[in-house]
Amino acid sequence: MQISSKQPNIGTTIFTVMSQLAAETGALNLSQGFPNFNCSPKLIELVNHHMKKGMNQYAPMAGIMPLREAIAQKTADLYQLNYHPNDEITIASGCTEVLYAIMTAIIHKGDEVIVFEPAYDSYVPSIELNGGKAVYVTLSPENNFAIDWNLVKSKITDKTKAIILTTPHNPTGKCFTQNNINSLAAITKNTGIFIISDEVYEHIIFDGRKHWSPSMHPELKERTFVCGSFGKTFHTTGWKLGYCLAPKELTAEFRKAHQWITFSCPTPFQYAFADFLKEPDNYLSVTQFYQEKRDKFNNWLKPSRFDWIPAEGSFFQMVSYKKITDEPDYDLAIKWTKEIGVASIPISVFYSEKIDNKILRFCFAKDDEMLEKAAEKLCKL
Ligand SMILES: Cc1ncc(COP(=O)(O)O)c(C=O)c1O
Repeated sequence: MQISSKQPNIGTTIFTVMSQLAAETGALNLSQGFPNFNCSPKLIELVNHHMKKGMNQYAPMAGIMPLREAIAQKTADLYQLNYHPNDEITIASGCTEVLYAIMTAIIHKGDEVIVFEPAYDSYVPSIELNGGKAVYVTLSPENNFAIDWNLVKSKITDKTKAIILTTPHNPTGKCFTQNNINSLAAITKNTGIFIISDEVYEHIIFDGRKHWSPSMHPELKERTFVCGSFGKTFHTTGWKLGYCLAPKELTAEFRKAHQWITFSCPTPFQYAFADFLKEPDNYLSVTQFYQEKRDKFNNWLKPSRFDWIPAEGSFFQMVSYKKITDEPDYDLAIKWTKEIGVASIPISVFYSEKIDNKILRFCFAKDDEMLEKAAEKLCKL
């Protein structure tokens, strides 16, 4: 039997390819974005506790109320933003599902979604599988991936349904500023364009920066979907739990999609996070934890021939290898995994036209020993 593919140009994601290669070759895996250390033992105890207590059946479709309440509290405490747990907060199976459910909820055939590239790899397939078209705004290292808002404005048509953004950004490590949010509000004023804001690295933000979400702008809040995830914040990427914050009318449509994708998410994990979120230090301490990792990794790389600007946020550091070689980034990432024993992600994979700026991305959500060893190898190049 042959399936007429709906995604004929899609293969296995680069993250799987590089992680597999790293496993086969025994390379230090700084490619895929997941920690190589464990989550808090307290979280594991909490999951255990709730499993033993019998919290093992379907959770409500929108998520258990204590978790929705805890997210509402955290969002109010940190950003003075009010989302009602009843009808404005939904728990989903990671940010990946949140993104897919949003696209399913809002896109009609032929709608356009503006995507900044380099872009996280699930955005465009989620748009296209739902009948939409990605319209690209290409960011480049020449101006440190700054956004030209006039260019963004020029991409808006009467078919523009949404703009998707990521802050802190994967793979560039850039963070939105208040100016960015104001520009976004100005160019979309009176348009009814939805904003899809991927904020999975919300707490991984450096050098005293403040996290700026479009939801903090009163005009944008009413048409913004905020996409969150516990995976990156709590070192639990394998638990696949995330959430969507959006005004009532948007949430109602979001839930219609979510209920047919996963319906509901694992119950004991939700209770565990609800308890864990009650202690703000559990998420606030993540900022300093990753600041130290970024600083150490950057410091250990100092003697190398790479060029880079320290990441503003996320747990990724991009480096330019132009002074070392001009080989294509994809080939080089594979070669260095095999020959040097350090796996990375080539940035060209995040561009629709596979633009090769000679940049690799290293994930520094790894224990210090692995980071130091990797830097040592990279400094020899
Ligand atoms: C920018 C971005 N969005 C979404 C995700 C996926 O999040 P989750 O694991 O919660 O589905 C990732 C994971 O790497 C990411 O980097």
